[in-house]
Amino acid sequence: MYRSHTCGELKIGDITKQVTLAGWVQTIRKFGAITFVDLRDRYGITQLLFGENLNAELDAAPLGREFVIQATGIVSERSNKNPNISTGDIEIAVSSYKILNKSAVPPFTIQDDTDGGDDLRMKYRFLDLRRNAVKKNLELRYAVNRSARNYLHENQFMDIETPFLIKSTPEGARDFVVPSRMNAGQFYALPQSPQTFKQLLMVSGYDRYYQIVKCFRDEDLRADRQPEFTQIDCEMSFVEQEDILLMFENLIKRIFKDVKGIDYTEYIERMSWEEAMWQYGNDKPDIRFGMKLANLKFPLHSFPNKIAHLQSSLIGIGDCGFSVFDNAETVVAIAVSGCSEYTRKQIDELTEWVKRPQIGMQGMVYIKCSADGSYKSSVDKFFTEDKLKGIADKADAQAGDLVFILAGREERTRKAASELRLEMGKRLGLRKENEFKLLWVLDFPLFEYTEDDNRWVARHHPFTSPKPDHIAVMINNNPLIEQADKYLEHPYANIKANAYDMVLNGNEIGGGSIRIYQRELQEKMFAALGMSEEEALHKFGFLLGAFEYGAPPHGGIAFGFDRLCSILGGSESIRDFIAFPKNNSGRDVMLDAPSTIDDKQFEELQIQLNLK
Ligand code: AMO
Repeated sequence: MYRSHTCGELKIGDITKQVTLAGWVQTIRKFGAITFVDLRDRYGITQLLFGENLNAELDAAPLGREFVIQATGIVSERSNKNPNISTGDIEIAVSSYKILNKSAVPPFTIQDDTDGGDDLRMKYRFLDLRRNAVKKNLELRYAVNRSARNYLHENQFMDIETPFLIKSTPEGARDFVVPSRMNAGQFYALPQSPQTFKQLLMVSGYDRYYQIVKCFRDEDLRADRQPEFTQIDCEMSFVEQEDILLMFENLIKRIFKDVKGIDYTEYIERMSWEEAMWQYGNDKPDIRFGMKLANLKFPLHSFPNKIAHLQSSLIGIGDCGFSVFDNAETVVAIAVSGCSEYTRKQIDELTEWVKRPQIGMQGMVYIKCSADGSYKSSVDKFFTEDKLKGIADKADAQAGDLVFILAGREERTRKAASELRLEMGKRLGLRKENEFKLLWVLDFPLFEYTEDDNRWVARHHPFTSPKPDHIAVMINNNPLIEQADKYLEHPYANIKANAYDMVLNGNEIGGGSIRIYQRELQEKMFAALGMSEEEALHKFGFLLGAFEYGAPPHGGIAFGFDRLCSILGGSESIRDFIAFPKNNSGRDVMLDAPSTIDDKQFEELQIQLNLK
C-alpha cells in the first residue's frame, strides 16, 4: 500500500491516527533541528514534520523539490494553523519516510505564481499541469463534460463515435490530411467536425445523437482557436428550430448550474443577424453593456429592412461638406458614457488605436457632449452645434458623454466600430468577468461572398437549409456574380438560413442549423456554391444517396467545448483549458511536433518529399 490517505483529506478529527501519504515535495523549510515539508498531490497539501530523530537520515538521503516520497506518521494538531488550506489544522509527525523517486530541479517553480514563462511551461507541460491554476481549469473542464453528458443522457441523446480518418472535402477551413499506406497516393482527411456523419445517423434513425469529440481545422490560430479542439456535437430528428433552441439553452443553463452554481433563469435574448450587425457591428455581440451603434449613413442593400430607419437618420450627414463623411459608404457613431472630459491626449491615443492595421480606420471624429449642454467637436467647422446635437441624440448620448464617429467602407467601418465599442467597454469595466449573458443570434445569411474566387460559399456549411420562403430565390437565380464590387446587390446576398449561434459574453460558443434533407434541394445548394454535378457526387455522393432512403427532417448544433470552459473559467485563452495544447504556430513544443518522418516511412507511403 503506497498511501492510506490523500494529501487533501486529513482534518482535526483524524488526530492520533497513523497514516501514510505519498506525493511530491512542494517546499522544504528547516527550523533548527526540525524540518517541515509540504507534500502535494492532486487533492491538496499536507504539512509533514520531520523531527530531530530523522536528521541523520535526511542528511544521508536529502529531499529536494518535486521528489516523490512516501511518509508514515501520526496526525497531530498544528500549533501554527493555516486557514488557507483544507488540511491547515494538522500536520503529520513523520516516523519514517522513503524516497520513491528523485526529481531534477524543475525549470520553473510549481506554484500558483510561477516564475516560468509561457514557452517554458508549454515545453514542460507535464510540470505545469501540477500547478493549482492549471489543475483547476482541467477540473472545470471535467465538470462541464460531466454536466453535459448527464443532461444529454437524461434527454435520450446517445453518444455515438464517428471516424477520424475520413474523406477530404474542404469547405470552410483547410483539412489536415493523412497519407494512406495501403492506398498509395491517396489521403484521408481528419474531420473538421462530424457534420455529415451525424446527419447520416439521423437517416439511420438515431434521432438524438451527441458526442464530445475532437475536430481538426488547419486555420490561422488565435486565443480562442486551436488546430484540434473539442465540440459538444449534437443532432436531433423531427425538430424545428424552436425545439433545438430550447433543448440547448437548457443544456447551457444546466452547465451554469452544475459547474458555477448559477441559476440562469433570465430569458435568453434572441436577435436576428441583421439586428446584431446593425446595433453592434458584430454577429456575436457582447450584450453585457449597451453603447449601441448609431447608423448615420449606410448602404441600403446591406440592411434592406432598415430603409424606413434611414429616413429618420438623415440628419444631413451625407452632404455636410466634410468629404470624409460625404464620400463614406457608412458613417456610424457610438456614445461613450461619462467620457466628455477626455483630454486631447486620451482622444489622440484612441484615434491611433483605430488607425492600427488590425482596425484599419483613417481617423476618428469626436463630439464632446459637455455637462453644461454644449457640444464641441473635431469637425466644428462643418457642423452647427444643432447638427452636432442631432448626431449625439441619434447615438443616445447624454450630457457628459463622448461620441466617436467612424466613416468608410461598410464592412470595415462597422467592424471597427464594433472593436472600438468592445475596447471602450473593457476600459470602462463594463465587461465584467463574473457576469454571464447568453444570446441567440438567428437568421444568418445563407451565403457569404468570397473575393478570392468571386463566388458564394456557405456561411455555415452547405448542409444548412435556407428559410422556407427564401428557397425559391436560391433556386430561381443564377449564382453568377457579374460585378464583384456589387455582390451585395445580388439576390443571394439576402437569402437567410435556418441557422443559429449561441453567444456568451461576446463569444460564439455554439452554432448549428436546420438541415436540408431532400436530395434535390441539397443538389441545388451544391450548384449554388459553384460545384458541378460530378464534383458534388464525388465529394458528397454518400450523403445525396442517403437522402434517397428516407431521411427525416433534422437539425443540430455544436458547442465549442474548450471555448465554453475558458469563458466559464474567466480566461481569454482556450489553451489554459486543454491538457496538451498547441502554441500559436500550431506546434506542440513539448513533443516538438510536427516533425519530419523517417525515410522508411516515406518509402512505405510511396511518397517522395519535394518541398516547394
Ligand atoms: P462551427 O464551425 O460553428 O459548427 O463550430 C461549432 C463551435 O465550435 C467552436 N470552434 C472552435 N473552437 C476552438 N478552436 C477552433 N478552431 C474552433 N472552430 C470552431 C466554436 C463554434 O461555435 N458542424 C457544425 C455544427 C452544426 O451545424 O451542428 C460546426 O462545426 O465555438
